[in-house]
Amino acid sequence: MRFIDLARNRFSERHFDARPVEEEKLNLILEAGRIAPTGCNYQPQVVYVIKSEAAMEKAKSTGASLCGCPVALLVCYDRDVAWHNPGDRCYENYCVGEQDASIVAASMMFQAEELGVHSLWIRGFDSRDVVEAFDLPENHVPVMMLALGYPGEKSHPAHLHAKRKPLAETVREL
Ligand SMILES: Cc1cc2nc3c(=O)[nH]c(=O)nc-3n(C[C@H](O)[C@H](O)[C@H](O)COP(=O)(O)O)c2cc1C
Repeated sequence: MRFIDLARNRFSERHFDARPVEEEKLNLILEAGRIAPTGCNYQPQVVYVIKSEAAMEKAKSTGASLCGCPVALLVCYDRDVAWHNPGDRCYENYCVGEQDASIVAASMMFQAEELGVHSLWIRGFDSRDVVEAFDLPENHVPVMMLALGYPGEKSHPAHLHAKRKPLAETVREL
């Protein structure tokens, strides 16, 4: 499948089946994140796998909308490792960690899609809740969770999936 079709077909899954994601597929998804580009190639990402009952309970306790997924990835960056740009005059010592974590997460999201594994990008949580639930080291900054799994019976794209602004509204030539 062409990438553009993969990107068009993907939608946020909010009705997962309980069926587990095969270890082989999960490893390939993680591999796609591993080889993602990062600022200065510093690779500050830390990807926590949430799969055990105990880990899933902790994730649920944060209020994150996991939608019954059998596995989720918590993508963080290590603020002590991420590249900081000392030359940015708008943001002092600008940290690219959120960007690093995001491209790692996006790479994993599209790899999952190619494997027929649906996903949901989740950021509707309080970072403090996540840090406390998983007892994260203070230098690990939670960026997002990627819920993964197969579509359940009620799987369907939400209405927002069809709502994209036209290019003319979001692209401007300088
Ligand atoms: C940065 C970001 C944060 C998001 N957080 C959540 C979330 O916490 N809960 C949720 O259900 N969806 C979340 N989403 C999914 C978006 O709502 C969804 O991608 C958007 O409505 C477009 O729909 P589609 O993914 O089906 O095309 C998030 C997506 C992004 C990129």
